[in-house]
Amino acid sequence: MKKTLLFLLSLGLVSCNQQTDKTKELQDQINSLEIKLTNTYKPGFGDFMGSIQAHHAKLWFAGQNENWDLADFEVHEMMEAIEDIEEYHKGRKETELIGMILPPIDSISKAIDQKNAALFNSSYNTLTNTCNACHKAVEMEFIVVKTPDTPPSSNQDFKPIK
Ligand code: HEC
Repeated sequence: MKKTLLFLLSLGLVSCNQQTDKTKELQDQINSLEIKLTNTYKPGFGDFMGSIQAHHAKLWFAGQNENWDLADFEVHEMMEAIEDIEEYHKGRKETELIGMILPPIDSISKAIDQKNAALFNSSYNTLTNTCNACHKAVEMEFIVVKTPDTPPSSNQDFKPIK
């Protein structure tokens, strides 16, 4: 009787040990996945800003050419970059300020819907001022955005298709 009990007890100990081995193995896997995750490439805040800069410039020429479809597209591209900032740079104090850009973007969208060139121009001006207000707020007032004089790329036609 005593022997059987001892035997059963040691069986239990062995399976307990196997359990700890399994747990350790899983923990090791989690650790290595965590390392992989932190080392995964993610675009920096400045990379997204570069993208926003390009779309901001193209948006202007789309608007000046009353190419409302292209203007609408550029607004959406900008919004995508803004959403990416919110997702990939969560919790940064800069990211908490990004919302200030939404009202002028809404106003530009309205101008595009109404095909209203005057409202487009005034909203674009407000948008550009908001870009700079945020750069000031993050103590990067040396990054000054302005209305572009020339299209950012000579290989894109901004005129609407006939
Ligand atoms: C959240 C506030 C915020 C708003 C709004 C904002 N920016 Fe920025 N911007 C930043 C920050 C922060 C950086 C610096 C990023 C870094 O650390 O690399 C930056 C950097 C930049 C740069 C510098 C990139 C370079 O390499 O020279 C440009 C250009 C730029 N922003 C354009 C814009 C434009 C255009 C808008 C408006 C359509 C805008 N930004 C709106 C916060 C903002």
